Amino acid sequence: MSLSKAILLLLIGATHAIPHIPRSPDSTIQARAVCTPTAGGSSSIDDVPAIKSAITSCGNGGTIVIPSGSTYYLNSVLDFAGCKGCDFQVEGLLKFASNTAYWGGKTAMISVSKIAGLKIRSLTGQGVIDGNGQNAYDLFAADSSYDRPTLLYITGGSNIEVSNLRQKNPPNVFISVKGGTNGALFDGLTLSATSKSSNPAKNTDGFDIGESTYVTVSNTKITNDDDCVAFKPGANYVTVRDITCTGSHGLSVGSLGKSSSDTVKNIWVEGATMISSTKAAGIKTYPSGGSHGLSTVTNVTWTGVTVQDCDYAIQIQSCYGEDADYCDDNPGNAVLTGITFDGFTGTTSSHYAPVTGNLNCGSKGTCGVTVSNYKVTASSGTGKVLCANTPTNLGVACSSGASG
Ligand SMILES: *[C@@H]1O[C@H](CO)[C@@H](O)[C@H](O)[C@H]1NC(C)=O
Repeated sequence: MSLSKAILLLLIGATHAIPHIPRSPDSTIQARAVCTPTAGGSSSIDDVPAIKSAITSCGNGGTIVIPSGSTYYLNSVLDFAGCKGCDFQVEGLLKFASNTAYWGGKTAMISVSKIAGLKIRSLTGQGVIDGNGQNAYDLFAADSSYDRPTLLYITGGSNIEVSNLRQKNPPNVFISVKGGTNGALFDGLTLSATSKSSNPAKNTDGFDIGESTYVTVSNTKITNDDDCVAFKPGANYVTVRDITCTGSHGLSVGSLGKSSSDTVKNIWVEGATMISSTKAAGIKTYPSGGSHGLSTVTNVTWTGVTVQDCDYAIQIQSCYGEDADYCDDNPGNAVLTGITFDGFTGTTSSHYAPVTGNLNCGSKGTCGVTVSNYKVTASSGTGKVLCANTPTNLGVACSSGASG
């Protein structure tokens, strides 16, 4: 065999790229290029270069396949640069290295930056992305300055779909969307972070949705140790539908206003089952004064939320990150308008019983909050909701004494 022929075969072997894509005169029925990266078969071989070369070969409108039954070891950042309208099909296992020295200070394990059109999905539903975060949980417990990466970090871009697969044990957040992403769908995902040691899987937010428009999360189950879905500064037009969260800090706007003026608006959450969360749904804003900025939250609805064993069903914190003395001097000034908690049912935990909700609006802010069809009971029986600075037409009977 000639050397050039051998090199050609090697190149083809590296990605199984189809060298000749049948071209139809009608471009709309062209076959898509399909690449299957070759796995090294050992955790000491980083499969990221093979996957990147598959993205280079097939990323422009083509398909990259991680076959069923296969394991790919990802020992470095997987960057989707070069993907444009590509379809990344994960049927096997993508397993990240647990090397805390390498990952320390990295922002992303999977980086999706300014990509127009990307599907990361499993057709079989068997695909798994494993962030292998146990070493990070243990190191972070000993040293909270250890800076851990997000498993799937999406910034900018448009038309992103992640569906029908499982993600487990990210060192930090599962999925982050920011940087002005326009249009992202997350559907049929199972996200679970569980520590095997006594150190919790800290800060494993399911979704951090920041500056973006038209992000949807649907049919998704999350087990983790921090916010299930966090609506962060700049989130606009987010829909969350049919979600089950276990062990989290809930479906949460914020925190906002820590060191800049922050806005969250046009959020719709419908159909959530919230199990053993610190709260099912809520808003957390920093108060005025210091270096804090103004928080503005507009048009946010949670509807149809089943509460099981959560400490609070509903919570508003206007003194987040500061203590009550600080807030006596620098009251909460957040502007909340068009905020609706509708159709909450179920039972809270014994933690604050008989209190099931704690709505502490800022005395210098605006509290445009409505609670309707609130049927949450305390584990001890009839519950009560604590309020401060809420409107007279709030929609639920409340007692004084709200805090936080
Ligand atoms: C409120 O937010 C929902 C959900 O994003 C959106 O459909 C609706 O148009 C918004 N309403 C207004 C008045 O902007």
